[in-house]
Amino acid sequence: MSSDAVLFSTLVGDDFRDVAVDAARRAGAFLRSRFGSRPAVSYKGSPTNLVTEMDRGAEAIIVEAIRARFPDHAILAEESGALPGAAGHRWIVDPLDGTTNYAHGFPIYAVSIAFELDGDLAGAVVYDPSREECFVAERGRGTTLNGAPMKVSATPALGESLLGTSYPNDIRGAPRDNLVEHATLMYRCRSVRSIGSAVLGLAAVAAGRLDGYWEQRLGAWDIAAGALLIREAGGTVTAVGGSPLDLDAPSITATNGVIHAEVLEALKEVASRR
Ligand code: IPD
Ligand code: CA
Ligand code: CA
Repeated sequence: MSSDAVLFSTLVGDDFRDVAVDAARRAGAFLRSRFGSRPAVSYKGSPTNLVTEMDRGAEAIIVEAIRARFPDHAILAEESGALPGAAGHRWIVDPLDGTTNYAHGFPIYAVSIAFELDGDLAGAVVYDPSREECFVAERGRGTTLNGAPMKVSATPALGESLLGTSYPNDIRGAPRDNLVEHATLMYRCRSVRSIGSAVLGLAAVAAGRLDGYWEQRLGAWDIAAGALLIREAGGTVTAVGGSPLDLDAPSITATNGVIHAEVLEALKEVASRR
């Protein structure tokens, strides 16, 4: 066991995993139980940034579960914002990633829960209610999918890769809308999928189903858990331009590692033409 894993298990133990998996599954079951019912939609500052009572309901389930077991931990949850707590222990929650898909009855959405210890990602759970898939990562202990160990792909070159991306929720007011990047990479790989859930796109990279994923202008909750899933599955994760991942200014390029430089090169080319 690595020293990181020892540190993590000493301070958090198996409780993180059990609490996070249980909360993610319960929130996911709640979302699945009402899926297809077209929830009432309201808007967060832009007509393309949707929120529903299902986002809030799923978040309440998760926050209550964390608070019940770890009452002094801090929580950053998409709909509630920052809930203060003891320094060094922070949970990062996206209760429903893929709200636009969910609101339209398109079954690509997920629950995402990450745990940070002293500012470093230490644990991650992503639950896909539609496929009943539960991805779990713990720092130094690898990534599993429904309990089975999982690795990124071995795809050797960008030209043989399948990539994922998506677009900012407030795209109409966005200076970086990702469309030129999408077009550029589309001509250099086998294809690009836009699935409308950053969390499931990143989980797909960790599972070797996609070879890479990039996106700009995200929230910390969109990428925290997925980043750890990929790192622990052997992949590489940086900010979109190649600098270290920054959850306070989140953008992401995440790959199987082998094609990382080629993806970054293409993205940098686009940036240099602006
Ligand atoms: C969104 C999804 C989408 C991505 C947006 C995110 P939400 O999260 O992950 O794929 O393109 O940038 O905000 O709002 O459905 O939780
Ligand atoms: Ca999200
Ligand atoms: Ca969300």
